Amino acid sequence: KSKFSVDFFARRKDENKKISMLTAYDYSTAKIFDEAGVDALLVGDSLGMVMQGLDSTLEVTMEDMIYHCSCVSRGADRAFVVGDMPFLSYHISVEESVRNAGRLIQHGKANAVKLEGGINVSDKIKAIVDAQIPVMGHIGLTPQSVNVFGGFKVQGKDYSRAKAVLEDAIAVEEAGAFAVVLEGIPEKLAKLISETISIPTIGIGAGRYCDGQVLVMHDLLGLFSGQSPKFSKKYADLRSVMENAVKGYIEEVTSGDFPESKHTFSMEDKIIDELKE
Ligand code: KIV
Ligand code: NA
Repeated sequence: KSKFSVDFFARRKDENKKISMLTAYDYSTAKIFDEAGVDALLVGDSLGMVMQGLDSTLEVTMEDMIYHCSCVSRGADRAFVVGDMPFLSYHISVEESVRNAGRLIQHGKANAVKLEGGINVSDKIKAIVDAQIPVMGHIGLTPQSVNVFGGFKVQGKDYSRAKAVLEDAIAVEEAGAFAVVLEGIPEKLAKLISETISIPTIGIGAGRYCDGQVLVMHDLLGLFSGQSPKFSKKYADLRSVMENAVKGYIEEVTSGDFPESKHTFSMEDKIIDELKE
């Protein structure tokens, strides 16, 4: 097993080669994505929404994250696995933050953790990195801040918010993060940040000039009905593939066309005859 490491991310930025990252939440899917060749898998706290049906990420717990990280890690032979730190797991104190990050590594078998915030969490990032745990930052439209932002709104369109996001990027790098997710910010701001800091930027809704991209697998695969978000691209319509498969199954079970004789196990008639006696 040769895994990508933190150096891989730095090298990719130096070589000007984009990094591909995708969310995954379970073993089987992680294995498919790993074998397809994705660089990194993110066990996002978006699992609250796409796996648990919640309407924000705020209810996701450390136990949820450890469970899903461990499933994904078992499926990822090559890809670098990043586990999200859930809401309140890195806000109370530096000590709790290091302990929780450690749990994602020790029990979730993640290769790195990701946490949201910039200047406000730089002491936590530094302490986790000091514990030899690689940290990926996450700034801009940070979903755990939904109640502060008043919804999922693009961040950094005006001067003061743009300046704050830029300063967060610098703080995250200075704290020792090996990469940073830029979410929901204007393309021009993401370009400036990517040129300013030396660690790779991984964009989602942050335009074309980031050093890599991340997408939620349900958006990429078209597992939701309805319109996909403006920033995402649907590379397949798995929802209709799944729906048609299930309809076909129901139809054939109902009609008796499934199972066929080739799906059955045989035995000698004489044993049945003996049983009937
Ligand atoms: O939880 C998640 O899926 C994420 C990505 C969208 C960056 O944090
Ligand atoms: Na997340």
